[in-house]
Amino acid sequence: MEEILTLTVAQFLEAFDADPEDGEWLAEEIARYDFRYRRLSQEERDALILSVLDRLDGFTQVGAHRQHIWELAWGDVADRYERSRGDLSALEPGFIGATREIRLRGDFAVPMDPKFEFHFFRVFRHWLYRKHLGAARQVYEFGCGSGFNLAALAQRAPDKVLTGLDWAQPAVDLINAFARKQGFNLTGRRFDFFNPDPELKLEPGAVVMTFCALEQTGVGFRDFIDWLLERQPERVISMEPVLEFYDPARLYDALALRYHRHRNYLNGYYTYIRELAAAGRVEILKARRLQYGSLFHEGTSMLIWRPISVGESTGIRENQA
Ligand SMILES: C[S@@+](CC[C@H](N)C(=O)[O-])C[C@H]1O[C@@H](n2cnc3c(N)ncnc32)[C@H](O)[C@@H]1O
Repeated sequence: MEEILTLTVAQFLEAFDADPEDGEWLAEEIARYDFRYRRLSQEERDALILSVLDRLDGFTQVGAHRQHIWELAWGDVADRYERSRGDLSALEPGFIGATREIRLRGDFAVPMDPKFEFHFFRVFRHWLYRKHLGAARQVYEFGCGSGFNLAALAQRAPDKVLTGLDWAQPAVDLINAFARKQGFNLTGRRFDFFNPDPELKLEPGAVVMTFCALEQTGVGFRDFIDWLLERQPERVISMEPVLEFYDPARLYDALALRYHRHRNYLNGYYTYIRELAAAGRVEILKARRLQYGSLFHEGTSMLIWRPISVGESTGIRENQA
């Protein structure tokens, strides 16, 4: 009989590199979900690795050619939302929790609850919003898709002014539709990472977020980052797969690396932010691999940074993964 393990509050804090006192309020959120899981036997693990290797070549590659695919995908979600008669859970994207086995704390795991991965993300987002959005009045999410992260934020912080941006028009229309229906202080707008809108200004003190979105740009993220630097948001929160966090000498990581590279995901972003930090142009506030993800890779590593304005002198802190 395999041992059933449960993710503890202390392990969540460790994953997020959170302050110990955060456990006092995070425990309540964690207790809402079933975080039991088991590890795999040697035979199961070997078979799983072989099945990953078998499937690697079949995955599509992301990039500029995929805009139409995203338009279709978010059009389908908009139909689902319409049919649900305003149920915000219809906005939840299918790509979180799509695999039976997940990555957790350095190895594969089989959760008892199929929604484990999604619930882990919800706990993380609960923590992130409280700890890292601070008093920001304006929050922008780029590549926001269905806007389910913004809907969650609008519900907990109705005073914030939210903007959801995506290159897929059906996603923008969906956001505007549910924001109107729910009375959220949220606007959808078109935006393309590859061609950042020169007309778009960010409000002073704005916080910028991306969740599994910049990943889609491969090596083509720089125009967007330079565009952000010109606009000087208060901080930038990226929850993206970070190539540089994997250890290529470990089989477990090497598999994720091969998947990441095959899909043409975000490549060189953390390196670029570190170069900017070394040049005194940004300060890295947090860089953390959460040690959780789908079977194939860890899609949400945390990188939080802020632009340093000209003339500002600061001791550059770097909180490494
Ligand atoms: C994996 S989805 C993530 C969506 C959302 N952030 C979430 O967590 O559910 C990637 C998103 O990035 C958007 N996207 C991809 N390439 C983009 C680009 N060049 N400019 C703007 N958005 C883009 C897609 O339309 C899609 O909404």
